[in-house]
Amino acid sequence: MDLKQTIEKRASIRNFTDEKVPVEDLKELIRRAGLAPSVNNSQPWKFYAVTNKDILSKMAIKVSEKIKELPSNQSIASKNVKSQVEWFATFFENAPAVIAMVMEDYESVLEKGVNLSHDEINKLRNFPDMQSAGAAIQNILLSAVDLGYGACWLSAPMMAKESLEKILDIESPYHLIAFVAVGKASRELQSRSKKPVDEIFKLID
Ligand SMILES: Cc1cc2nc3c(=O)[nH]c(=O)nc-3n(C[C@H](O)[C@H](O)[C@H](O)COP(=O)(O)O)c2cc1C
Repeated sequence: MDLKQTIEKRASIRNFTDEKVPVEDLKELIRRAGLAPSVNNSQPWKFYAVTNKDILSKMAIKVSEKIKELPSNQSIASKNVKSQVEWFATFFENAPAVIAMVMEDYESVLEKGVNLSHDEINKLRNFPDMQSAGAAIQNILLSAVDLGYGACWLSAPMMAKESLEKILDIESPYHLIAFVAVGKASRELQSRSKKPVDEIFKLID
C-alpha cells in the first residue's frame, strides 16, 4: 500500500477478530518502529509483544481497579465518565496482541556540560523522549495498516503503570510508555473526521 493510502486509511481500531498475529508480523512492526527518529539517535526503547490472554486480562483488571480508585468529583456525570474511560483503557485485553513500549532515559549531550538534571533538560527541550516515542508508535500504527491489521495507541492504561510494570517484569532503567493494541479489525471503521488543512496550516513566508 502506498504511504498516502496508508495514512488516509489508518484509524484507531478497538474491536478485533480472534485471529492471532503471527510473531513474524509482530517482529516486523517492531523492526519498523525501530527505524523511527529518536533524540540523538538514542533509540531508548524496547517493545514487548504480549499475546498471553491471562497476562492481558491481569493487566486490564489492574487498570480497572486503578480507575475505580480515582477520586470522583460531585458531578452526576462522574460514574459514567469513569466507566467510559474504563472501557477505553481496558479493551486491549480483547486484542490478539498488545505491544508494550518501554523506554530508558536518554543522556542528552547537554547533561555533560550544564548543571541541570536530566528531568530539567528534558523539560527545557520539550520532552524529546516522548516525542521520540510518538514517532516510533506512529510507525507501528501505519505499518499495522500496511500489513493488513488494525491498531490503537493507548495511554490510558498507564494510569496503572506500576502494577503493569510488575506484571510485565519491566525493571529500571526501563519504564512503560504506552500500549498499542493490534489485530484484525472485526469491522471496517470509517476514519474519524479531521480538520481541513486550511484550518491547521499557516505559512510563515
Ligand atoms: C497519545 C495518545 C494516547 C491515546 N490513548 C488512547 C487510549 O488510552 N485509549 C483509546 O481507546 N484510544 C487512545 N488513543 C486513540 C485516540 O483516541 C484516537 O487517535 C483519536 O480519537 C482519533 O481517532 P483516530 O485514531 O481513529 O484518527 C490515543 C491516541 C494518542 C495519540
